[in-house]
Amino acid sequence: MSFSIPEPFSYNDSFDVGVDSINEQHKRLFDLINNVDSNRSDAAAVKELLDYVVFHFKHEEDAFDRFNFADKVSHKKTHDDFVAQASAVKEINDDVIAFVKSWLVNHIMGSDMQYGETLRGMK
Ligand SMILES: [Fe+2]
Ligand SMILES: [Fe+2]
Repeated sequence: MSFSIPEPFSYNDSFDVGVDSINEQHKRLFDLINNVDSNRSDAAAVKELLDYVVFHFKHEEDAFDRFNFADKVSHKKTHDDFVAQASAVKEINDDVIAFVKSWLVNHIMGSDMQYGETLRGMK
C-alpha cells in the first residue's frame, strides 16, 4: 500500500474517515508532525506528538470495542508496532520525518478507512 504524501503536509478531505472526532485528531497529528519537523531538536515537541499518538490510538481502540469492529485485533497491533518503532527513535532526521508522514497517510488511507462503516454514528 502506498498513498501519495500531501505537500505541504496537511489534512485534506481525502482523509475523511466519517467520524468527526477522529478526523479532528488526524488533523492534529498532521500539525504535530509538522511541528516536530520544524523543531527537530525539541524533545518536548517529540513528546507531545508521541503522547498524542497514544491518546489517538486509544480513542480508536475504545471505539472498536464499543462498536465491535471485526478487525480490531490486527488494527491494534499496527498501532502498537508504530508506537514501538517511534519510541525507539533516537534523533529526528529526514528519514524519520519521511517515515512518520508516510506511516500516518498510509495508515489512515489503508487501515482507518476500513472502520468508517462500523463506527458510523459515532461523533
Ligand atoms: Fe487514526
Ligand atoms: Fe488507526
